[in-house]
Amino acid sequence: MDNTCFQLLPQGRCTGDLVPPGDKSISHRAVMLASLAEGTSEIQGFLPSEDCLATLGAFRSMGVQVHWLAPDRIRVHGVGRLGLKAPDGVLDLGNSGTALRILAGILCGQTFASTLSGDASLNRRPMKRIADPLQAMGANITLQETGTPPLEIRPSTGLQGIEYVLPVASAQVKSCLLLAGLYAQGRTCVSEPVRCRDHTEKMLRTFSYPVETQDRQVCLVGGRSLVATEINIPGDLSSAAFFIVGTLISSSSRLTVRNVGINPTRSGVIEILQLMGARIDIRNKRNYGEEPVADLVVSSSPLHGVDIPRELIADAIDEFPVLFVAAACAKGTTQLSGAEELRSKESDRIRTMVAGLQTLGIQAQEKPDGVTIKGGEFTGGTVHSGGDHRVAMAFATASLVASDAITVMDTAPVATSFPNFVGLATELGFLFE
Ligand code: S3P
Repeated sequence: MDNTCFQLLPQGRCTGDLVPPGDKSISHRAVMLASLAEGTSEIQGFLPSEDCLATLGAFRSMGVQVHWLAPDRIRVHGVGRLGLKAPDGVLDLGNSGTALRILAGILCGQTFASTLSGDASLNRRPMKRIADPLQAMGANITLQETGTPPLEIRPSTGLQGIEYVLPVASAQVKSCLLLAGLYAQGRTCVSEPVRCRDHTEKMLRTFSYPVETQDRQVCLVGGRSLVATEINIPGDLSSAAFFIVGTLISSSSRLTVRNVGINPTRSGVIEILQLMGARIDIRNKRNYGEEPVADLVVSSSPLHGVDIPRELIADAIDEFPVLFVAAACAKGTTQLSGAEELRSKESDRIRTMVAGLQTLGIQAQEKPDGVTIKGGEFTGGTVHSGGDHRVAMAFATASLVASDAITVMDTAPVATSFPNFVGLATELGFLFE
């Protein structure tokens, strides 16, 4: 833990117009595929957060040239699928599970060795979920005994395509295997028991790489080329979610969120909030390339507790910290089960959120695979983020309806996904001290 914190006065507002920063998941994938493409790509709406900069840094250290054209626009000079060079040292992916897991798939197909590592939180996260299927494809990858990073990857004698059924719903694992599949002999097919985000499949098609999707199976054949292109990245619904909930729970607020991604594999947060009684209008639907985008008009709404449908969990997996804040402001009880994956995120999000909610006067109980939250009144107090960006921003949002000031400790990780959170939140009416 560091000594950074947010101090927020109670009863701020969340009203106005928001253009959220670029989508984090899509920014990672855009840089990765642009680096592997033939030719020069331009990426508009790139998220310059620590996580995405870690991905950019990794490709730069493997010989990819990147030029900044604006704070959110980059030009990437692709080196082709086989053009990466050995990095000078360890590839440090910071806090980013997405960067480390997806990059591991690409690196297993290279003719040079590499080591992937991260910060203390990332180096505690489970990696057997990628190492097992990568080894089954013939990759030469080793983990620590604890099943965690650092990962060592050495050149293999050749990857073979695989037919793999994901044991956990994970877009990171699916993406890792599909990108390893670019380097494999024959066909790689990944089946998912529960639908999870499909940005990698969409981004591959944007770079003219053929991908077949049927029911819950995605397949590609290795060995083809990616063709450079222009990408426009939608706003990040996961970042907008703090302000959507902030508007719903505070009185007389109205927010317009512009140019935000509403990919159905990501928009579970909207559906869950609507089940709770939220007034969210989806307007001006359109596409940025393969990705659906819209504007949202959100108004203060009386919320009620719900049993969160299991089929929406994967589509809202990153929004539970702020959904728990919404549940704490709702009439009645909200139940979540079947979400044990929340314990393997940047923090154990069930534990860190329940601890903070209790500190702020809310009746919340942990379950092994979820939570029970009874709606109530937020008091003030001091809570800890657990080193987790989304927990920090969720508790900042709770300040809008608290009876006293809230201090959130350990907020530096907010820069991993949302460097300008404090600036945008202040514009909308949050009262940072
Ligand atoms: C992500 C997938 C999700 C999500 C993470 C980003 C991605 O993780 O929690 O923040 O970009 O693929 P899992 O796929 O491991 O659930």
